Amino acid sequence: MNGSLDSPVRPPLCDRLGIRHPIFGFSHSVDVCVAVAHAGGFPVLGLARELPAEIPHILAEISARMAGMPYGIDLMLPSQVPDAASLESVRAQLPAQHVAFVEGLRERFGVKPPEQPSFFTTQVRTKALFDDQIEAVLASDAHAIATAIGLRADLIERAKARGKLTFSLVGSVRHARKALDMGVEVLVAQGYDAGGHTGTVGTLSLLPQVIAEAGTVPVLAAGGIATGAQILGVMGMGAQGAWLGTLWMGAKENHTPPALLRRLIESGSEDTLITRAHSGKPCRVVRSAWIDAWDASGAPAPLGMPLQQALTGDVFASMHEYDNAELIYEAAGQSVFAIERETTVADQMRVLVDDMQAAWARLCSWG
Ligand SMILES: Cc1cc2nc3c(=O)[nH]c(=O)nc-3n(C[C@H](O)[C@H](O)[C@H](O)COP(=O)(O)O)c2cc1C
Repeated sequence: MNGSLDSPVRPPLCDRLGIRHPIFGFSHSVDVCVAVAHAGGFPVLGLARELPAEIPHILAEISARMAGMPYGIDLMLPSQVPDAASLESVRAQLPAQHVAFVEGLRERFGVKPPEQPSFFTTQVRTKALFDDQIEAVLASDAHAIATAIGLRADLIERAKARGKLTFSLVGSVRHARKALDMGVEVLVAQGYDAGGHTGTVGTLSLLPQVIAEAGTVPVLAAGGIATGAQILGVMGMGAQGAWLGTLWMGAKENHTPPALLRRLIESGSEDTLITRAHSGKPCRVVRSAWIDAWDASGAPAPLGMPLQQALTGDVFASMHEYDNAELIYEAAGQSVFAIERETTVADQMRVLVDDMQAAWARLCSWG
């Protein structure tokens, strides 16, 4: 536990999950998740971009390190993907114009071929891949399962039957309705400000609409949130907590490549933009020369999912493997403004809770 005060308010979902603070930490790093849990938040580990062969080891590691503390696992389940496909078969369908454009960028930026195998150089998002991820996650001891971009009724039903709490990230009232109709137990209203795949409505406008639709189902707020005052603010609107993603990339536990960390520290909210160039679906990222090249006039429109990743996945892997200062980018929200230096998750949690307390005291002083 860190030395912070308690959160000034503790919504019922905190008791239900056995957590101290209404802070939900999404991350692809097991180290971040363990640190979020130790600091009293609820960690959710993303497994959507991990190699299938690694997933059993990752699940065993997080289970051992959590030692009974509650945590969740997140999967991305877009529905418009092939049933099954190899990367080679998808690459064979890529339009020649796009292949030539990326070839030109590779030469222009001197992109080195990646050497380490990664999700982005070996995998295609397909229903078969999702089926394997689902089986692994259902068999894990995670307390919660979250899904984004798409929903699978069979997963919701089976997760609930195993006593796992089900969360769904929603970017519109229509998505919220769909999740509620499938019996999802916690909605995460993720606004346009968020890092990663996102809809078109900002968090502050989306949240009240999702809360109204959800009735008695708890709602969390996500997107652009990185201060305690914001967390208190969304709870004032009726959210039972906030779900943060970008902020943790500023923590040592995230092992952020140094050039990316520098970019995140130097970037403000206006340096993020929504692009289809990363995955084929609208995704908020922090800008780099690679993203700008896709935004420039004359660039072809990005392909859809999973084609765009088959086209560019090795470049994404390369810029991360070699920490390419010019090209490196990552999903990042408007919340990037709060990454000012490298720190630790414990410090970030302390700052968030202290800021929540200060905001509460300010409100109380106004009578
Ligand atoms: C680097 C990064 C990767 C992400 N990957 C996923 C993912 O795999 N699944 C998912 O549900 N959300 C993903 N998200 C979105 C987060 O779950 C969360 O909704 C978002 O980060 C909240 O907004 P914020 O970035 O402003 O905190 C990702 C976000 C970031 C920054």
